[in-house]
Amino acid sequence: MTSHVVLGVSGGIAAYKACEVLRRFSESGHDVTVVPTASALEFVGAPTWAALSGKPVASDVWNQVHEVPHVRIGQSADLVLVAPATADLMAKAAHGIADDLLTNTLLTARCPVVFAPAMHTEMWEHPATQANVATLRERGCVVIEPAEGRLTGADTGKGRLPDPVEIYEVASAVLARGGAALDLDGRRVVVSAGGTREYLDPVRFLGNRSSGRQGYALARAAAVRGAEVTLISANASLPDPAGVKVVRVETTAELREAVLAAAAGADAVVMAAAPADFRPTHSSEAKIKKADDGSSPVVELTQNPDILAEISGDRLAEGQVVVGFAAETGDADGGVLDHARAKLARKGCDLLVVNDVSGGAVFGSEENQAVILGSDGSLAEVPRGTKTALSNVIWDQVIRRFAS
Ligand code: CTP
Repeated sequence: MTSHVVLGVSGGIAAYKACEVLRRFSESGHDVTVVPTASALEFVGAPTWAALSGKPVASDVWNQVHEVPHVRIGQSADLVLVAPATADLMAKAAHGIADDLLTNTLLTARCPVVFAPAMHTEMWEHPATQANVATLRERGCVVIEPAEGRLTGADTGKGRLPDPVEIYEVASAVLARGGAALDLDGRRVVVSAGGTREYLDPVRFLGNRSSGRQGYALARAAAVRGAEVTLISANASLPDPAGVKVVRVETTAELREAVLAAAAGADAVVMAAAPADFRPTHSSEAKIKKADDGSSPVVELTQNPDILAEISGDRLAEGQVVVGFAAETGDADGGVLDHARAKLARKGCDLLVVNDVSGGAVFGSEENQAVILGSDGSLAEVPRGTKTALSNVIWDQVIRRFAS
């Protein structure tokens, strides 16, 4: 079903990045109405928004007045996303000021509303802005945490517009759930993602094809649902999920250390990473050279510790829920589910998300499909869909275990 998305754009230099957000929404089949403020049009002109959305755009309430746009656009929206959201725009939204088409739209909308702020650090940290953000969040709006980094001019700090891909992902996650019920509010969760590398020498490593997408989707989904999230990321080249603490690691040993540190006191740990099961027994400090006699080096491997089994056994917090992943194929010894049930018991975790990889790889794909097995004997089938959709089912299952 086509959803009606209103993309509000307020007047910041990051307005040009909203073009990419618009493109992603349009390409995924949504009907997008762009409502720029007058200042936004100083940065990116109306023809750009009209061409990308396929619709005329207006900033004030005096166009097509017979259609009563100041009320109709908000009323018919399934999602209003404001990106970039300036300090001024959020102040108006928090206080119910309606002096142009976008602020009128915000006042008439009854759908989920997401703000992606962008401003200088001083403006973001100002008590007035912080109070306005708190008011908007209390009312159920999602205000994405700004990113840290280079700002306009020579400044760096917190206040950068989050990556457009990330804004799109957060907004579509909110749209898919019809809002952001903060059912993970007050919970601290840890997610691992990506594939580890085990070095043979300073330039060569043994690795795997895990992209990290499922782990990143899990981290983002938990943050949207209100959790405090630590994402331990092994070699993934994806933008940081907004509002998530990212710890970067390379090897399985580093991953283990980071997971154990973050898991202490955490309510849930989800091991979506693909740690290498083996590492070279000896890692050379110098680059390994070809031998003059043409002989090839022999690589001896040592098994890595099983992090999932370790945290499942130790439980670093009372009532902690531990989730593992398994990519399985059926063979002469049993089907996918037989192997998965054995793995669930062997690892000792509460939930095991099982991918059947018999028919081909899921690596790098935007979609996933899985069966979630519970240590209590439960089985939930998740049909093919986005990695965000699977993430939300996994968090639903985790929350159910918190309750019990
Ligand atoms: N895992 C882990 N530490 C490892 C290897 C795997 O924590 N050294 C975790 C993964 O993050 C995943 C789960 O264990 O959540 C399943 O990994 P998998 O490779 O399927 O398990 P293995 O025990 O290696 O089983 P297999 O022999 O089938 O490869």
